[in-house]
Amino acid sequence: MAARKIIIDTDPGQDDAVAILLALASPEELDVLALTAVAGNVPLDLTAKNARVICELANKVDVPVYAGCDRPIGRDLVTAEHVHGKTGLDGPDLPDPTMPLRDEHAVDYIIDTLRSEASGTITLCPLGPLTNIATALQRAPDIAERVQQIVLMGGAYFEVGNITPAAEFNIYVDPEAADIVFKSGIDIVVMPLDVTHKALVTKPRNDAFRALGTPTGIAVAQMTDFFERFDKEKYGSEGAPLHDPCVTAYLIDPDLFTGRHINVEIETQSPLTRGMTVADWWRVTDRPPNATFIGDLDADGFFALLTERLARL
Ligand code: RIB
Ligand code: CA
Repeated sequence: MAARKIIIDTDPGQDDAVAILLALASPEELDVLALTAVAGNVPLDLTAKNARVICELANKVDVPVYAGCDRPIGRDLVTAEHVHGKTGLDGPDLPDPTMPLRDEHAVDYIIDTLRSEASGTITLCPLGPLTNIATALQRAPDIAERVQQIVLMGGAYFEVGNITPAAEFNIYVDPEAADIVFKSGIDIVVMPLDVTHKALVTKPRNDAFRALGTPTGIAVAQMTDFFERFDKEKYGSEGAPLHDPCVTAYLIDPDLFTGRHINVEIETQSPLTRGMTVADWWRVTDRPPNATFIGDLDADGFFALLTERLARL
């Protein structure tokens, strides 16, 4: 079967980095057309730089990287240096990138690619705030029916919020963008905190990354060593939750995951619950299902796949 064509929209971010490395290590399943950077964990100049740092770490400098939106639709940017560090990729000491950014704006690239590639053959993989995706849909409504699927990391239901009591970071930063995407009619798969908080880099799993002995394996171990502080302190968890790699792992082996096709709406009005994903998990409303909301994964299978693929880089 031909590799699936994907565009990874990202705000690296250590967990974004691992998701991108997993995708780049899996050419039989995934054809990474490009990385599109968005402001999120850190400002756009850093996410656009970090995306290229990761491509060079993987020796995949032919993957084009585009810079997108530097702030949410109609809101001020909220960043997460308290989680990811000042650079957004704290942990390993990786060299500045030499590969250039592409000149085209990421939103124009997304629109042009969806219009030029055969309809239904491009999957969008947002790993950060949905600003680039929503802006593309606003500027070019015709592209919605041409998207094969959106597989995104964001939201929460049983786990509720990680940036406020009610909201997960990616959705909280740009709730208007999320509202546009969830109302687009596109086939959406959601990796919320409900599942990503079960993908924890415990010490044996981190040791397995380090034991690869490669620059990539050691860098990933250093990234997750740094990245785990926030969640260990807040949740007392056993290690860093690999939020974004759930997206690329799902595309490689969807059987690792289980969820429900339900209605998910986004709170955009209330300051108290801004960015909450109101997931009708128990189907108590007659609101039509618009997303496959993932609730669980085979964590050992996930880490076995991830470690095996990272060993290839
Ligand atoms: O809430 C977790 C999400 O926010 C992840 O995508 C992480 O990288 C940050 O963007
Ligand atoms: Ca991210």
